[in-house]
Parts: sequence; structure tokens; C-alpha cells
Amino acid sequence: MADERNLTWHTGQVQRKDRNDFNGHQSGVIWMTGYSASGKSSLAHGMEKMLHDERIRVYVLDGDNVRHGLNRDLSFSTADRKENIRRVAEVTRLFCDAGVVVFSAFISPYREDRELARACVGNEDFHEVHIKCPIEVCEERDPKGIYAKVRRGEIARFTGISDPYEEPVDPQLVLDTDQYSLEECQAQMWQYLQEKKLVR
Ligand code: ADX
Repeated sequence: MADERNLTWHTGQVQRKDRNDFNGHQSGVIWMTGYSASGKSSLAHGMEKMLHDERIRVYVLDGDNVRHGLNRDLSFSTADRKENIRRVAEVTRLFCDAGVVVFSAFISPYREDRELARACVGNEDFHEVHIKCPIEVCEERDPKGIYAKVRRGEIARFTGISDPYEEPVDPQLVLDTDQYSLEECQAQMWQYLQEKKLVR
């Protein structure tokens, strides 16, 4: 199949199914959405360690890290946040094809952008998890001192304070990080992964 730019899709001899069979587990993405300091990164990296220890192919895509490299040209305007999520969704899709379980940890504040990510990755591979924590608690935690900067007027358009966050309507899983410890949230996530055969 060739398009108007004379690009042709090459189908490899090794398919995703072959890689999943080889690995003994399915691939897919746990798409973690929530405020800054809600616990997305801690959970994603905690899960990565748990899965790796079980010899499962796993990788974290994290907002702060990805914005250091691939997306370093993007701001926090609505359009750039959309582009941030679009690129990450494409990368996530490649990782899923490569047989990896991905934990994508991005505020991803807009429902429409998360739905575009779902459409890009594929509905059956996309597991939306709301990392839920009241904004007041996130601000109190403030591990990076970023909320303090926002209050000093140093950062504009900050999600939850001066920019919108659209909560998931019907997420696959909700983790209340202000009610449960990190270990308890990890256990809840692990149980979900087992149900979905993302871990053995
Ligand atoms: S997203 O909105 O585009 O999904 P992303 O997850 O990549 O955000 O990056 C969020 C991180 O960028 C936060 O953890 C925070 O440290 C930092 N950040 C800097 N400025 C802002 C801002 N205006 N709004 C939200 N996060 C910001």
C-alpha cells in the first residue's frame, strides 16, 4: 500500500503476536492520568520494578523525562500538551508492537487527547488509570516545590490551579493515592494486570 508521499508500509516477518508468545505475556499500556504530584511517576516506577523482577518486558514513559528529550520543544499550551500526548501515544503504540508493557505517566489533562491516544494505541491495549488525589493534597506534598512556584506567580497555566484537568469519565481503574499507600496502590494495580493477562 503506497500513499501520496510514496511511502510503503512494510509488514515484518516477526509479528507482535510472535513477540507476545515469546515473552509469555501480552503487551499494552497502563495510561496513568492525574495531577502533578498525584503519584503517577512513583507508581509507574514502582510497577516497573515489580514487573521487571518477574521477568516481564516493561518500560516507563514519564512526562518529566520525555520533555527532556523527544518533547523538549513543547510548552504547556493546550496545543503543545495535545502534541505531547500525540507523540507519546505513537511511541506507546510502537512499544506495544514490540511486546512491552508500558506505563505512561502524563498529566494528560484533556479527555479528547486521551481518547486520541486510545484510538492510536487501540482500545483493547489501552488501560486508562486515574491516579486520583485532591489538588490540595498534591499541593501539600509538592515534592518538586513546583506548586510553591505557581503560588509565587512563576508558572502560568498550571494544571489544577490555573489550567483545566478533565477527570476520566469511565476509567478502567481508579487509584486513590491519598487513601492508600504506594504499596497498596501497587497491589491494586498488580491485581488488575493479572486480570488482563499483562502479567503471568
Ligand atoms: S501534560 O499536561 O502535557 O500531560 P506532562 O505530564 O508532560 O504534562 O508534564 C507535567 C510535568 O511538567 C509536571 O510534573 C510538572 O513538573 C511540569 N510542569 C511545568 N509546567 C507545568 C504546567 N504549566 N502545568 C503542568 N505541569 C507543569
